[in-house]
Amino acid sequence: VPEVKESLLIGVVGLGARGLEAVRRLSTIPGARVAAVCDSDRTRAAAVAAERAAAGAPPNVFSGPEGWRALCAEADLDLVYVTAPWLMHVPVALAAMASGKHVAVEVPAALTVEDCWALVEASRKSSRACVQLENCCYGEIELLAKNLADMGMLGTLVHAEGGYVHRLFGPGCPPDEMWRAEWNMSHRGNQYATHALGPICMMLGIGVSDRLDHLVSLECAPFDFSGFARENGLEPREGMMGDHNTTLIRTVKGRSILLRHDVASIRHRSRGLHLQGTLGVMNDDPFRIAWTSRENGGAEEWLDPEALKLVREAYRHPLWKMYCERARTVDKHGGMDWLMDFRLVTALREGSKPDTDVYDLAEWCSIAELSERSVDMRGSSVSIPDFRST
Ligand SMILES: NC(=O)c1ccc[n+]([C@@H]2O[C@H](COP(=O)([O-])OP(=O)(O)OC[C@H]3O[C@@H](n4cnc5c(N)ncnc54)[C@H](O)[C@@H]3O)[C@@H](O)[C@H]2O)c1
Repeated sequence: VPEVKESLLIGVVGLGARGLEAVRRLSTIPGARVAAVCDSDRTRAAAVAAERAAAGAPPNVFSGPEGWRALCAEADLDLVYVTAPWLMHVPVALAAMASGKHVAVEVPAALTVEDCWALVEASRKSSRACVQLENCCYGEIELLAKNLADMGMLGTLVHAEGGYVHRLFGPGCPPDEMWRAEWNMSHRGNQYATHALGPICMMLGIGVSDRLDHLVSLECAPFDFSGFARENGLEPREGMMGDHNTTLIRTVKGRSILLRHDVASIRHRSRGLHLQGTLGVMNDDPFRIAWTSRENGGAEEWLDPEALKLVREAYRHPLWKMYCERARTVDKHGGMDWLMDFRLVTALREGSKPDTDVYDLAEWCSIAELSERSVDMRGSSVSIPDFRST
């Protein structure tokens, strides 16, 4: 039996909205210890370190724009946890693996196909885990859908839909983070695909029994986003993000996936999961299920609210059953962030394989560049690389 590491020592890079939450959350995970923190902003790094010190667990502190290099070189750390802005993800991940650390990277871990390959190569060469922190894989509804699929309740899965629809950059909508809007000023396509695609890939067995093959992508004009840009001193330009991107993927086995990305339009926030199988269908927004039976032969009616409630309880994912009460108390996203961290820390402490790997990361992240290429070619088909090939 492999020995379980008593404490997994973690260094967190980037202590903004997401990083601060991560430090607080990781501090509640059994066997996890935040041993180092880093932010380019000295005051922010010092404040987070002081908070941990007050809780009796002072971390080493690194700061300045290059502080992450020293954190990655720290001899004692086991895992570097990256919650910095997008363009810092790959440099930090490569430095962490080069000095023998596992690395976990916020979404999107990479934005170009070249960077996806660089992470794959580095993880292979160093034999270190390089995983994406795709919390939506652990959402209650996503895990319920996966459980229904794994138990065969929906039959053979044929089609899935999901999206990131969250108004960050509309007119009259002051930004929290300009670095992200600036990236969107010069990139079309779905630059934030993984919240929808990650869970769908887990449901469809992508990387296990199927693979993403090719995509087409189409985008409307920046009706709302150009208003946001003007209000925030950014000149609208050719090649900036349109308000709504729709990307369609076909898998090698012939299943289809539809992804939406819309961070500008006035709409309620939604991941809009829809999972269609030969025996039934599950919808997240609104939550509905229909499945065929001997009696109805066709699944043309949604289950009534009472039956739906019973199904939701009966098919709740075992992980969610086991940990949701605990997870909900520390997590702004209803428990999925805690569950994601708990699974990762436990796997690394036990020396077992985390739930996702660098190939999943690469496959999901490659959609940013590939969908942009397709949009630029008026929706032409673009092949998705097989990152698992040797
Ligand atoms: N999974 C989710 O649900 C979710 C939610 C929000 C954000 N995110 C992701 O989390 C990441 C961070 O987003 P955020 O909203 O916390 O951003 P943020 O702007 O609030 O925080 C980023 C932090 O990184 C620091 N930073 C910048 N350059 C640095 C450097 N060179 N070295 C060290 N620190 C540096 C900044 O000072 C800031 O404190 C992004 O990848 C974002 O897409 C994920």
